[in-house]
Amino acid sequence: MDIGIDKIGFYAPHLYVDMNKLAVSREVEPEKFTIGIGQEKMAVAPITQDTVTLAANAALDILTEADKEKIDFVIFGTETGVDHSKSAGVYIHHLLGMNPWARTVEVKQACYGATAAIQMAKGHIALNPSSKVLVLGADIARYGLKTSGEATQGAGAIAMVISAEPKIMKLEEHSAYLTADVMDFWRPVYSEMALVDGKLSNEQYISFFSKIWGKYKEKSGLALQDFEAICYHLPYTKMGYKALKTVLDETAEETQERLLSNYKISTQYSRNIGNIYTGSLYLALLSLLEQKEDLAAGSRIGLFSYGSGAVGEFFTGILQPNYRNYLNTRQHTELFSARTEVSVSEYEQIFAETLPKDGTSIELDTDQDPAKICLAGMKDHMRQYIHKTK
Ligand code: COA
Repeated sequence: MDIGIDKIGFYAPHLYVDMNKLAVSREVEPEKFTIGIGQEKMAVAPITQDTVTLAANAALDILTEADKEKIDFVIFGTETGVDHSKSAGVYIHHLLGMNPWARTVEVKQACYGATAAIQMAKGHIALNPSSKVLVLGADIARYGLKTSGEATQGAGAIAMVISAEPKIMKLEEHSAYLTADVMDFWRPVYSEMALVDGKLSNEQYISFFSKIWGKYKEKSGLALQDFEAICYHLPYTKMGYKALKTVLDETAEETQERLLSNYKISTQYSRNIGNIYTGSLYLALLSLLEQKEDLAAGSRIGLFSYGSGAVGEFFTGILQPNYRNYLNTRQHTELFSARTEVSVSEYEQIFAETLPKDGTSIELDTDQDPAKICLAGMKDHMRQYIHKTK
């Protein structure tokens, strides 16, 4: 039985800041951000969007009533959880009106969370072939104003339906994964901002890729020429390129050119969104699938997932016949073009707006947010969500 990605949805907040303007404001050369880091625009989440609403908005347009009936497992990968106890997935389960006879959990391992969710989903479908699983990956990357990580922030969500006989990509059997205790990036429970050793995280990402790719080759017997493209977790678009570069001399020039050209296409969405942590790898996949019009069915795509701390995995999928018919390309193009630019000072104001931490109630103005699902406030220590079209 084939198991894999049946549907894939994406959502990002409607605001962004231009990286050229951010660079000028931070007194660095714009090319550092646009070439050195590889980012053009950075999605900015208004206070009315959190990981619950981002993920719910990403899932909203891909789920049919039939999917909701079949989905009996909702797995939410995030490192921007809104509660220490309650899974963010449960809010989404309610907001989307899903089948109550379902399991719902949140999983965490930095940017690796959605990959863990996919692997759990794969096991669940293997045991329950007629079920479907909703996998969500949503995050708001916050390093802080005027920090070196600032240029690698972002916000957004990916939603995927994992099922038997998937319409987009079947997952292959072989996979290689690695865990090591590394303090390259973490966020203590008392902190709104991530702490990061940027240089160490770059080194660890590449070292994980190198070790895992070696193990994967051993397990699968495959080599670079067997891949049409490799998608990477993209904390910023230059990062995956740095990792890819380390293995290119294993293969002939023709394969090198193909992988480099497809890598570039896979970074197009992230370049305009920024880091969405758990969803980043899948945003790269989506960018490749939606933006490379002649990507043939039957192509093998490699996926490298890295979650600081650290866990990494390399796994693969095969594109299914007519997979393009099941993508929401037009909707995603509209999402990008309908966004509004904010100035650096507006972005700084939005960044500074946070929910009260002392239990005070607050009502938020959701009229300014075009998203269908928004955070409307806090009352009695409880988040208040609204679904405008319900
Ligand atoms: N034109 C072109 N490139 C330029 C440039 C210019 N004018 N000025 C600088 N650069 C290049 C640098 O050479 C460097 O390239 P390299 O990495 O290929 O050597 C790149 O821009 C970044 O410059 P650097 O000085 O290393 O930036 P930084 O110290 O501000 O930090 C990060 C960059 C990515 C480490 C930092 O943003 C960060 O910590 N991000 C969060 C952690 C993260 O994303 N980790 C990734 C693994 S999960």
